[in-house]
Amino acid sequence: MSEKLLITGKQTIKGRVKVNGAKNAAVAILPAALLTEGQGVISNLPRITDIHMLVEILSALGADISFNKEGSLVVNSAGVNRFDPPPQLVNRLRASYYLMGSLLGRFKQVEIPMPGGCDLGPRPIDQHIKGFSALGAQVEMERGMVILKAKKLTGAHIYLDVISVGATINIMLAAVLAEGKTVIENVAREPEIVDVANFLNAMGAHVVGAGTDVIKIQGVKELGGVEHNVIPDRIEAGTFMIAAAATGGEAVIEEVIPKHLDSIIAKLREVGKELEVGPDWIKVMANNPFYPLDLKTFPYPGFPTDLQPPVMVLLTMAPGLSFITENVFERRFRHVDELCKMGAKIKLEGRTAIIEGGHELTGASVQAGDLRGGAAFIIAGLISEGETYLDGLEHIDRGYERIEERFSGLGVKLQRITSEKP
Ligand code: UD1
Repeated sequence: MSEKLLITGKQTIKGRVKVNGAKNAAVAILPAALLTEGQGVISNLPRITDIHMLVEILSALGADISFNKEGSLVVNSAGVNRFDPPPQLVNRLRASYYLMGSLLGRFKQVEIPMPGGCDLGPRPIDQHIKGFSALGAQVEMERGMVILKAKKLTGAHIYLDVISVGATINIMLAAVLAEGKTVIENVAREPEIVDVANFLNAMGAHVVGAGTDVIKIQGVKELGGVEHNVIPDRIEAGTFMIAAAATGGEAVIEEVIPKHLDSIIAKLREVGKELEVGPDWIKVMANNPFYPLDLKTFPYPGFPTDLQPPVMVLLTMAPGLSFITENVFERRFRHVDELCKMGAKIKLEGRTAIIEGGHELTGASVQAGDLRGGAAFIIAGLISEGETYLDGLEHIDRGYERIEERFSGLGVKLQRITSEKP
């Protein structure tokens, strides 16, 4: 028995939706709450399986976790007494790598399997490790485990060879309680990094420069309690915007920070969509022509790699040739074969996908192999002729909260079914 999503084709989005808290900030903020004996109260957390798994992991380490009556998560890490997060949970969650930085930071030790998560091709963590070792950690990597130990951590000057969201945040987590000053150069500038830095600073850390390419951290002896509201998820917002555009529909995406969506707004306008941008909402207007695009993914503020699969579906609607060059995860193209099964005409040349748009897609049985590829298949199902059965929902549930309910607010029906075979 497995769960599938039945997507009836030729549906047009019309409605409004409030964006949830940002997954990629939340999955770092929960581990960051291990850095203090004080109480963390975290609101606007998305109810996604990545968060449920982190709650389980933190509890297994000895943290006391509950939800208060406002629905915020209350984390008390005073009782944490284990530094070996359970492998079976860690393996299911890429962001479990943040437990390295936080446990090393507070307890100076951690033993954890190499992180699992979405298969987007090779995802090394050498830059994380380089940072930890510069701060004074001894690193052992054997039999798929990473063991980090330090007598003490000391501030250091670290230059990242690759712009990495994970390494930037992880080194920040380890450095806030280190002795002295840490400077991390060539860091990623994603809004989620700024959110994590704000969380740390609210606990009493001294982090400056988050959101630029140099972060400076003055270590402190201890951190205290904190209340924090997670920023809106720009990737979820972008998914809904692209879905509205692809179906020729109209949608108001509410509770967003429009500045975080600049690259997406710009590309949707280039494709021919009309958009209205309010102080905390974006309206995608109905029925515009589709023009082909040349699009390249880059670290923020470039076009996000996480929206590359959804935007590829949109470009199948644009007559002519579109080009998408994937510069962040060179092999993040596993959705292409499934889209071709639905009638898309896409050719891969190295890290570039060439999309011959203007051919109608047809519903098919497709398999989500990763989170954002899964979101792309939902959009593909909505614009195609006939019915689409989407398998691999566990990937989608990792990052989107009850996706079928979210889309129902946008006036389209997705049906979660439990069955052997369609
Ligand atoms: C994070 C996001 C993910 C997003 C990605 C890029 C989380 C939990 N996930 O993933 O949704 O798609 O950023 O915006 O926030 N790299 C190295 N060595 C390292 C680390 C990274 O070579 O030590 C390379 C990666 O292989 C990749 C590039 O750097 O090619 C960027 O990866 P990174 O920003 O680290 O992605 P994640 O943090 O894994």
